[in-house]
Amino acid sequence: MTKPVIICVDDELFVLAGLEKQLKYQFGKQYKIETTSSGNEALEIFKHYQKSQIEIPLMIADQVMPGMQGDELLIEIHTMAPDTLTILLTGLASAEAVGNAVNFANLYRFIAKPWYREDLLLTVKEALTHYFQKKTIKSQELELRRMNELLEEKVRKRTAEVLRQKTELQDTLENLKQTQSKPLESEKMASLGLLTAGIAHEINNPVNYIYAGIDSLKEDLRDVFEVIKGYEQITAQNVNEALENIRSLKEEVAFDELITEVHELTSSIKRGAERTAEIVKGLRTFSHLDKDILETADIYENLETTLIMLRSQYKNRIQIVKSYADLPLIECYPHKLNQVFMNILVNAIQAITDKGVIHITTSLLSDKTPQTVSIEIRDTGHGISDKIRSKIFDPFFTTKDVGQGTGLGLSISFSIIEKHRGSIAVTTRQGEGTAFTIYLPLHTKELKNAKH
Ligand SMILES: Nc1ncnc2c1ncn2[C@@H]1O[C@H](COP(=O)(O)OP(=O)(O)OP(=O)(O)O)[C@@H](O)[C@H]1O
Ligand SMILES: [Mg+2]
Repeated sequence: MTKPVIICVDDELFVLAGLEKQLKYQFGKQYKIETTSSGNEALEIFKHYQKSQIEIPLMIADQVMPGMQGDELLIEIHTMAPDTLTILLTGLASAEAVGNAVNFANLYRFIAKPWYREDLLLTVKEALTHYFQKKTIKSQELELRRMNELLEEKVRKRTAEVLRQKTELQDTLENLKQTQSKPLESEKMASLGLLTAGIAHEINNPVNYIYAGIDSLKEDLRDVFEVIKGYEQITAQNVNEALENIRSLKEEVAFDELITEVHELTSSIKRGAERTAEIVKGLRTFSHLDKDILETADIYENLETTLIMLRSQYKNRIQIVKSYADLPLIECYPHKLNQVFMNILVNAIQAITDKGVIHITTSLLSDKTPQTVSIEIRDTGHGISDKIRSKIFDPFFTTKDVGQGTGLGLSISFSIIEKHRGSIAVTTRQGEGTAFTIYLPLHTKELKNAKH
């Protein structure tokens, strides 16, 4: 490594030689000692080292020299390298020159000629220490500033990141809020689509019944009217003959059976009309999914209505085994409960690929506080694997094909049951089936009030 340089200037050569000797003896190992007899040359030497990026911690200059004076030289040096320290050697202590050098040349000390060797060496040693300490402090300051900037940059980045995350979270929250109301909507639409198909089918049956019944009834009534017409034609003169005609007409149309058939037909038409009315009533229940009114309802009716709606999906394929307990009316949002039953039943129906059974069991758990009813819907479908079991209540989680499932059924059901202060439990075994059990307190409202 190149040694740092101390430059000495004095026009008196023997003085210069002495200076060089003393400095070399003391500092020669670590420093290169350059000497010159003129200010201008000293400047050149200085520039040369500076250009080569060699450190020049100290310049020692005589004050009185031909040409450039010591203080002038040192001022010049200071403007070029503010860190380089300077020492002025002066025989004729010129107060003005020393003042100049102090004020404008970073003068470290001035030393009167002739100097004491020890004094000179000590001063130079101190100057060098001072120079390097200052340098270290400066580089530490630089490092500190760099670290500060780095830190600030990091803080800036972090803040930006936190802000970005915050906006992202806000967006997600906003989306969630929107999807929370949207799913109910789209779910409703999906179930409505499903329902319309089911309902059309369901209504078709009793309506066909009514149609066919009315046609037969019309024919039967025509015969009855014929007989009545016969009676209307009876006069005092033809009574015997007319009665004979009527009797044979009655025989011809099998009048007694005809009357029985008319009765049967009217009651069958009535049954058809009643069934249609029932379905329409069910439909009405489902068209109020948005309603948020707490009512007392009979769970049995809710389950039955839902089953009617889904009949076309399970008929002739899945046996529904019902085991209904004698339940009291429960406080609930009936339309929303319908949606829950619908979602779980549809899942059960979809889980059974061919033939199977769905057991619906309701019970009153009177030993529980608050009093609770349970509704278990158990299917013999394909079951749920351990791997996905924890995810089935997550919104948008579905194993069904695109277009088949939105993955919202269970998450919506979960939030509806939560709203009732109830819970849903699931037990399942792959390949054997799944059971969803809904627990509902009898009185949601009381619980709600008790909470506040
Ligand atoms: N009875 C069940 N048997 C087997 N797997 C089920 C059953 N119920 C739910 N799952 C599983 O849970 C997943 C989520 O059900 P969820 O009802 O939330 O959505 P989905 O039925 O896929 O779609 P969507 O109900 O929105 O039409 C289903 O995709 C299915 O894998
Ligand atoms: Mg579903």
